[in-house]
Amino acid sequence: MQINVINHPLIQHKVSMMRDKNTNPKDFRQLLKEISLLMAYEVTRDLPLKDVEIETPICATKTKMLGGRMIAIVPILRAGLGMVDGMLELVPMAKVGHIGCYRDEKTMQPVEYYCKLPVDVEQRTVIVVDPMLATGGSAAMAIDFIKQRGVKDIKFMCLISAPEGVAALNKAHPDVPIYTAALDEKLNENCYIIPGLGDAGDRLFGTK
Ligand code: PRP
Ligand code: URA
Repeated sequence: MQINVINHPLIQHKVSMMRDKNTNPKDFRQLLKEISLLMAYEVTRDLPLKDVEIETPICATKTKMLGGRMIAIVPILRAGLGMVDGMLELVPMAKVGHIGCYRDEKTMQPVEYYCKLPVDVEQRTVIVVDPMLATGGSAAMAIDFIKQRGVKDIKFMCLISAPEGVAALNKAHPDVPIYTAALDEKLNENCYIIPGLGDAGDRLFGTK
């Protein structure tokens, strides 16, 4: 199983607060934004740099700036939306695409309903974001769409993952590294993550 668990103490603390069923949507949103910012720091760790020459107030010097592909952030609707603002605070020049899909409540299969990506997406590193990786169906489908647009460099970032979803996504897209804040125990009979945090979209938007 290929997985990068970003278990910084600040992230673990905030994930625990999000898991708590008594955390209200306002705090849940704020915590998801903060964790996304912290995770973005790790997910972008391997971005390539180029040498540049600048002048400080004291002298000319050679230094480094980002030099590789530009970034696109692609949230999977709905819950992925809660991760965009935190990431944009660190990478404000990123473009944002959107992929809408939901899990059919009977079959648990993902159903796609929206896809809008930046026109130059194939020239970018795409970071797909969604708080939950359960069966892996939604993430695999979203990444299928992005690959169909010619994107070669894709990463997937989530908050909580189940081993079943990690295995499924590794199998469907072995070239896509997965970053998660927590690797949980398993799925229950309704394909919810145990212990998880419940339904991320409903908790984020207060729809239940
Ligand atoms: C949740 C979550 C993921 C998906 C994960 O979305 O945000 O997109 O489930 O499950 P999977 O790995 O088994 O596909 P949901 O389908 O509840 O849609 P919503 O965000 O619109 O509520
Ligand atoms: N989607 C969620 O929002 N939560 C889960 O535990 C599984 C899928």
